[in-house]
This record gives sequence, structure tokens and C-alpha cells, in this order.
Amino acid sequence: MSHFASGVTIMTTSAAGRMHGMTVSAFASQSLEPLLILVSVERSTTMHKLVMESRAFAINILGEQGEGTARYFADNARLSGPEFREGAYHLGVSGSPILEEATAYLEATLERTLEAGDHTIMVGRVVALQVVRDTAPLIYYRSGYRSLS
Ligand SMILES: Cc1cc2nc3c(=O)[nH]c(=O)nc-3n(C[C@H](O)[C@H](O)[C@H](O)COP(=O)(O)O)c2cc1C
Repeated sequence: MSHFASGVTIMTTSAAGRMHGMTVSAFASQSLEPLLILVSVERSTTMHKLVMESRAFAINILGEQGEGTARYFADNARLSGPEFREGAYHLGVSGSPILEEATAYLEATLERTLEAGDHTIMVGRVVALQVVRDTAPLIYYRSGYRSLS
């Protein structure tokens, strides 16, 4: 799998007064009509538990400067305090945090889930989306962060 190059996103949600984010590369477009997306989320994650409660999430697509953010949202150290810096996010229509640095984002409500191995495929119905800036993407390839340039 490490030979498959992917983009890098931060999946976010809000449940029971808690905002949470997690680095995700297993993200794909699923359907155009209706507009559906999917993410594969490990069942042991906090994100899994919270999305099952909130039934909503956002996918924030990172640009080539986003390596620090990708590392941060994959590291348990972030869980010791508030995960999101004031001014670095706003709440979207789904109630999920939208990162100001995202190059584009999609917000979705949880449409259905499919348990597969130790992950759950979460299919989301897109309720909002925006391209924020025209920046080259952050790429994850062979366990390292790359850019197109
Ligand atoms: C580049 C990268 C991509 C990742 N993609 C996924 C993914 O698609 N699904 C997943 O469940 N975890 C993925 N992870 C792992 C989670 O980000 C990591 O386990 C995180 O700390 C779990 O957060 P939580 O348990 O606090 O919710 C990825 C990690 C990295 C570094």
C-alpha cells in the first residue's frame, strides 16, 4: 500500500461538546448523484467513537505546507489539551471544525457504515463543500510526505 500515493486530509467532528481531528488518507469520492464520499476509519480510534455519536464529519484537504498539521493530528500528544487553536478553525454547517489552512473541505452527514476488518467504511452524504485556495496538495507516499514540485 505504501507504493500508492494519496492526498492527506484531516477528518474532524464534534460530539458531546468535544471537537476532534485525525489525519486520514483513506478518503475517496464514492458517488456523484447523490454526492457521497467515503473514509475508512480504524475502529479503535477516538474519531470512530465520536462520529458514531455525531453522525457528521468534515474532511479538510491539506496543501503542500500541511505536513506539520498532518503529523499533529496523527499524534496522541494533541489529546492532552484543546486540539484546535483559536483562530485556526471555524465551525461548519455540520458542526465539525473546518481548518482555516485547508485548501478545500467537504462536510457530510453519516449515511451508512460498513464494518470491514479492523476499520469501518463510513459513507458520508455531502452537505457543504468549498475550494478555499488553489494550492498544490500534500502527498503521502512510501511513509513520507511529499509535494508535487
Ligand atoms: C498519513 C496518515 C494517514 C492516516 N490515515 C488514516 C486513515 O485513513 N484511517 C485511520 O483510521 N487512521 C489513519 N491514520 C492514523 C490516525 O491518524 C492516527 O491513528 C490517529 O492518532 C487516530 O486518532 P484518534 O484515535 O485520536 O481519533 C493515518 C495516519 C497518517 C500519519
